[in-house]
Amino acid sequence: MARVSDEPLVLGIETSCDETGVGLVRGNALLADAVASSVEEHARYGGVVPEVASRAHLEAMVPTIERACREARVRIDDVDAVAVTSGPGLAGALLVGVASAKALAIGLGRPLYGVNHLAAHVAVDQLEHGPLPEPCVAMLVSGGHSSLLLVDDVTTGVRPLGATIDDAAGEAFDKVARLLGLPFPGGPHIDRVARDGDSAYVDFPRGLTSGRDLQRYRFDFSFSGLKTAVARWVEARERAGEPVPVADVAASFQEAVCDVLTRKAVDACREIGVEDLLIGGGVAANSRLRLLTEERASRHGIRVRVPRPGLCTDNGAMVAALGSELVARGRTPSTLDLPADSSMPVTQVVA
Ligand code: KG4
Ligand code: ZN
Repeated sequence: MARVSDEPLVLGIETSCDETGVGLVRGNALLADAVASSVEEHARYGGVVPEVASRAHLEAMVPTIERACREARVRIDDVDAVAVTSGPGLAGALLVGVASAKALAIGLGRPLYGVNHLAAHVAVDQLEHGPLPEPCVAMLVSGGHSSLLLVDDVTTGVRPLGATIDDAAGEAFDKVARLLGLPFPGGPHIDRVARDGDSAYVDFPRGLTSGRDLQRYRFDFSFSGLKTAVARWVEARERAGEPVPVADVAASFQEAVCDVLTRKAVDACREIGVEDLLIGGGVAANSRLRLLTEERASRHGIRVRVPRPGLCTDNGAMVAALGSELVARGRTPSTLDLPADSSMPVTQVVA
């Protein structure tokens, strides 16, 4: 095996949503992970505004590349390959990253890999826990996506098992937080206040977990009914002139989300006969989700891998990690006309 210093240096760029991420990776070693977030600019709208995100990416791109190079103590022309999120994500936001990556690849005369954002969320775990067990099941839960994937080979073989049919898990956290008067993004706030709440206070619905729904949507999720149920419950309390027990509602809501997610993820592993479950995306930072997954998975001898919170949320290191794996496995780079594809299918790892 090559010494770490002999392995190619891969730069990864992520701009699919509101984080401008630039990562530098050599082999499985993370050298830099610079992130500039525009989340505060979106806070007053209660959600990410695409035009605002695109402009913020434009402004942050060059400084973030420079910061990553300083952190890694490398020069930009040391970079051996460039990887960028090609999709899925916000079209205008993706375009900034893709155009920047093309400019870099052309300027440096290096290969360019346009990669799938979801596969990158899977690949990032290698930076922390070493080579991915293949096959594994990956549960990706964030503000923009909620998917269960079967990963045979993170560079070529990612198959969807299920996904949300309406709101993403993080989106549900954000909307319910808003109902409860908590700031955006709501996930971390719900996580925090729920610690003092009773998770059995309200028995909120678990979407697509029984009867016909379960048959038809075996590994899919639905969170919009849950969000509406919370809204109705809160409205009824307010109409009655009674105070809303925020901690209890937050804990009960969080329990409903985590119950469904962990149940379906563990069922998928058991049905398919896979012994490793990976969790990624911003919602993977949720303390209850981590605990419940560990608890349920260990009962069936399933090992759980969760990258540290900073690597779960969107970042450039994840794109560089996947790029590095593509280089290591000798996969063909993208052509320079690679698109920013807002609805890139998960089965397509490289554009
Ligand atoms: O992966 P991410 O940074 O960006 C994308 O949406 O792609 O995920 C952000 C989402 C937000 O919806 C946020 O509320 C949620 O992740 N989140 C959490 C927690 N931390 C972040 N949700 C629940 N519990 C948390 N501790
Ligand atoms: Zn993401």
